[in-house]
Amino acid sequence: MITTATFLVLFIANGQLSLSKAQLHVGFYSKTCPSAESIVRKVVQQAVTRDPGSAAVLLRLHFHDCFVEGCDGSILIKHVVNNDERFAAGNAGVGGFDVIDGAKSELERLCPGVVSCADIVALAARDAVVAAKGPFYDVPTGRRDGQTAEKSNAANLPDVEDSINTLKSKFREKGLSDLDLVLLSAGAHTIGTTACFFVVPRLDAKDPTINPEFFQVLRSKCPQGGDVNVRIPLDWESQFVFDDQIFRNIRNGKGVILSDSVLYQDNNMKQMIDSYVVTNGSSKASFATDFAKAMVKMGSIGVKIGIKGEIRRICNATN
Ligand code: HEM
Repeated sequence: MITTATFLVLFIANGQLSLSKAQLHVGFYSKTCPSAESIVRKVVQQAVTRDPGSAAVLLRLHFHDCFVEGCDGSILIKHVVNNDERFAAGNAGVGGFDVIDGAKSELERLCPGVVSCADIVALAARDAVVAAKGPFYDVPTGRRDGQTAEKSNAANLPDVEDSINTLKSKFREKGLSDLDLVLLSAGAHTIGTTACFFVVPRLDAKDPTINPEFFQVLRSKCPQGGDVNVRIPLDWESQFVFDDQIFRNIRNGKGVILSDSVLYQDNNMKQMIDSYVVTNGSSKASFATDFAKAMVKMGSIGVKIGIKGEIRRICNATN
């Protein structure tokens, strides 16, 4: 005979089973908000048309979201006091919040309380990559939004001056391999810009790994005592196009920030970088395909699914 207690146990066990099975999947909103992905795409395309630089900004936003408390949109939260994650030193220059807010308000009109801000960030990063002529990839969705956003949680973000071993271990802590580090950090820097702030210390220290001619170019853009907020391309030859040029640059001593250049000092990573450089029309590995895989991996870091977290009504505040 099944008593109420047995039924409850069965029910809970079943609940736990389905919870443990809960995971991100492609097309999570196909029934609950069928136009979710197309709306995000449209908003991103409009933003990139207005300002081609916003593709890089949106890609970076996803990284900075995922590396603190998982991909849960916590970076979007903004309280009155500046004590939120987004104001941490390691998040300086991170942006794209207005684009995410714009997509969210359209989605709230259409399907209120359904699409998470964390998913909008992940989809927007993919659409930004596509807008920069990078690969399209399916984004598994179903993330829920985090309910905390402490500045102190962002203290351990990868830093431009971290040693190669520190960078590797910061990625490993998130379940990402050395190859993911190459693809996601150096690879993503195929688009976008950096403030001179991150370049000047390298120049002042006369970093010997910088190609001498390129050193002069960088020095002229980021002079000693100059404005450190001036922005220069991370991928010198093709800042708006998602391509393998960044790897050629790193190989030739033309990496702009230290954390990109330092990868080439490691034998394994050197080989990985070389494998993505297209010579005679082909390369041993496909940067586009591998980058897409690494993005999906990064997008699953510490996600809140099932009954965890919430679906925020607006992205810059918890409900
Ligand atoms: C080793 C880890 C990483 C370090 C140390 C690092 C460091 C930096 C720095 C210093 C900047 C310039 C910021 C500014 O001046 O506003 C930057 C920009 C950027 N980062 Fe990274 N990054 C890392 C990994 C990543 C990853 C994993 C992604 C994405 C998958 C990414 C995407 C970008 C993009 C697209 C930009 C350009 C942003 C813009 O144009 O505003 N980075 N990164």
